[in-house]
Amino acid sequence: MEILQGKKIVLGISGGIAAYKAPELVRRLKEQGADIRVVMTEGAKAFITPLTLQAVSGNAVADSLLDTQAELAMGHIELAKWADLIIIAPATADIIAKITAGMANDLLTTLCLATSAPIAIAPAMNQQMWHALATQANITTLKDRGYHIWGPGCGEQACGDVGLGRMLDVDDLVSLSGDFFVEKYLQGQHWVVTAGPTREAIDPVRYISNHSSGKMGYAIAHAAVRAGAKVTLISGPVTLNAPFGCELIRVNSADEMHQHALSLAPTCSTFVACAAVADYRVANVAAQKIKKTNDAMQLELVKNHDIVADVAQLTDKPFIVGFAAETQNVEHYARGKLVRKNLDLIAANDVAKSGQGFNSDDNALTLFSAVDHIEIPLANKTIVAQQLVSLINQHYLAKLNSTEL
Ligand code: PMT
Repeated sequence: MEILQGKKIVLGISGGIAAYKAPELVRRLKEQGADIRVVMTEGAKAFITPLTLQAVSGNAVADSLLDTQAELAMGHIELAKWADLIIIAPATADIIAKITAGMANDLLTTLCLATSAPIAIAPAMNQQMWHALATQANITTLKDRGYHIWGPGCGEQACGDVGLGRMLDVDDLVSLSGDFFVEKYLQGQHWVVTAGPTREAIDPVRYISNHSSGKMGYAIAHAAVRAGAKVTLISGPVTLNAPFGCELIRVNSADEMHQHALSLAPTCSTFVACAAVADYRVANVAAQKIKKTNDAMQLELVKNHDIVADVAQLTDKPFIVGFAAETQNVEHYARGKLVRKNLDLIAANDVAKSGQGFNSDDNALTLFSAVDHIEIPLANKTIVAQQLVSLINQHYLAKLNSTEL
């Protein structure tokens, strides 16, 4: 089922250049099953026409507080009651200031005062305007009042400046809208997730690594964020963007990952070790690029710390989920790691099968604990991660919490 099936969303568009992305946002939200009503400010209409928004939303666009026709059909109070969620995207510095001040001099600001629905704001403005004390004070006030602030993103801006202030991409806004309606069953929990490969230097230009793309670990971090957890993602070098709302710590080597993991693990409730950590590093990393003088060469390797096993040694250890990437005897090796590393749960993946495991978009997992054996069938890593996070909660965390009460 589409994630926004049956959800009623009012999209408020204010007058910024990012308004040109609004039709695509409407289209994508509708694709996910949402019913969309668009409200435009006068400024928004300078960038994009109501007709376009009407065509993509399939509903009349509301743009005036004093519209007798609109009041006959869906007036501002009706609209305020109708919405499950109001998204303002783009939200200019001006509309943010007006909402903060409690003004009600146009339809969009009035709607914000008149609704009991949650309101999400996607700021879009010049980076200097974003950093201005007035804007920052307004954002803090809105956050304190329970508004959801989605973004802004960082990058090149329409005016040529570079920095924070871009409206989040449509993909991110659609994903945040879906996440918004997910039950926040991990509220109050802190998860630490390791992801991606590590790189073990040979010399300044070469390293030992593996094929991990980070997709599985990033999907787990995202699934935990959308379920309401505070998430810290410790990631080896990958090309992915961190899921919105999670703290990202970038590392290169297993040693760096070990340091961060061990300093964070005592503060977290669940530790998920999805990273493909190099088991060995080079004993003596060359200070200069090694020259091709011999036909053969030997590297002496020494064992890296076992990060997840060290986390499991902590006195007040979190709930620990390890992964096992195996090419044969999957259950046997996974169960061995479960016991040897003193884990609560291990997620085994058969990386010999094509179309799953390393660097693929899909995966299938078998979870083993001391008593359980649960299959998560082949699916996109996003789905697999959501199932994994939900299973961890249902089968283990919820039970742990109820026995602690
Ligand atoms: O990143 P993707 O391309 O999406 O691929 C996902 C994945 C295949 C990498 C992922 O699903 C996975 O299986 N991750 C674990 C890979 C692995 O290295 O497994 P392992 O059997 O070598 O290690 C067992 C466990 O010990 C893992 O939880 C690993 O993070 C941990 N470990 C291993 C060595 C070490 N020095 N420290 C560790 O913490």
